Amino acid sequence: MKIGVNGASGQLGTATVKQLLERATSHSVVAISRSPEKIEINGVEARFGDYDQPSSLVEAYKGLDRLLLIPSTNLQPGVRAAQNIAAIDAAVAAGVSHIVLMSSAGARNVQKPNIGADYFASEQHLMCKARQWSILRMSYYAEALIAEAQMSLAHGVLTGLTENKVSFVLRDDLAAAAVGLLVGEGHDGAIYTGTGPESLTGAERAGAIAKASGKPLTFVTLPAETLHAQLQQVGLPAEVITAVVSIQQNFSNGDFDIVTGDIEKLSGRPARNLESILSIAFQ
Ligand SMILES: NC(=O)c1ccc[n+]([C@@H]2O[C@H](COP(=O)([O-])OP(=O)(O)OC[C@H]3O[C@@H](n4cnc5c(N)ncnc54)[C@H](OP(=O)(O)O)[C@@H]3O)[C@@H](O)[C@H]2O)c1
Repeated sequence: MKIGVNGASGQLGTATVKQLLERATSHSVVAISRSPEKIEINGVEARFGDYDQPSSLVEAYKGLDRLLLIPSTNLQPGVRAAQNIAAIDAAVAAGVSHIVLMSSAGARNVQKPNIGADYFASEQHLMCKARQWSILRMSYYAEALIAEAQMSLAHGVLTGLTENKVSFVLRDDLAAAAVGLLVGEGHDGAIYTGTGPESLTGAERAGAIAKASGKPLTFVTLPAETLHAQLQQVGLPAEVITAVVSIQQNFSNGDFDIVTGDIEKLSGRPARNLESILSIAFQ
């Protein structure tokens, strides 16, 4: 069996390709990127593919039995949906039997610029067009919280729009689950949600970060307008500000307040909890 990973040069893609190579011997791996020359992993075939050039994708996907689509990190509303739809159409045209899409927890029929809008449109297209499909929705990266924590610790304040709960998940655990899905059987038409083993309030995660770092940190809520203005002051691009505020609104909606056993079900090992992730990050 030939398994392709699009987005293979990224952090999630690299982890997935490496674990695919470790996991089994009965499949070959094709790593697809706009910069195939940068993929330096022994034992994989690297191919060029650009989500913005659909004709390159049909070539890139030729001969694949299964394909993992990792969406790009383009935050312009509508772009990721267009890219994913082009990739799904190309995979169907190339004859790929089973397409697996990485999506987001809470994906549903919302309006742009909510980041869920692009994921929902992509999921719907996949369901309509792919011969066989699976979806792995991601909860929020623990790594993204750690990056936020490193900035927040300077001020002693972790912020949110409201008190909320999130089931932070390690990127590597998502990669392990994606691998289980790609090499396993019986996943056609399944929607999984990769989450950590617990959902933590703002106060709980600030406390966990304070404990791991040995520095004080308090969770504080603030209005969306204030967060928007603060991000503008830092000089972030408009689409990044919109995405950050949108993600915080999704936190408040409870979109990432979901705990499943899907990481363990797919990968065979339990998802790591935030305390253990933080203890390694801050050691
Ligand atoms: N759940 C969460 O909390 C969370 C947080 C952050 C991100 N994400 C999502 O998780 C996914 C992967 O994250 P990551 O950590 O692996 O990000 P990353 O390390 O920044 O990788 C992004 C990947 O997107 C690829 N890419 C960008 N534009 C492309 C294009 N036009 N055509 C083809 N490939 C393109 C890049 O490949 P090349 O440049 O080599 O082509 C790269 O491999 C993204 O969908 C991202 O939005 C989720």
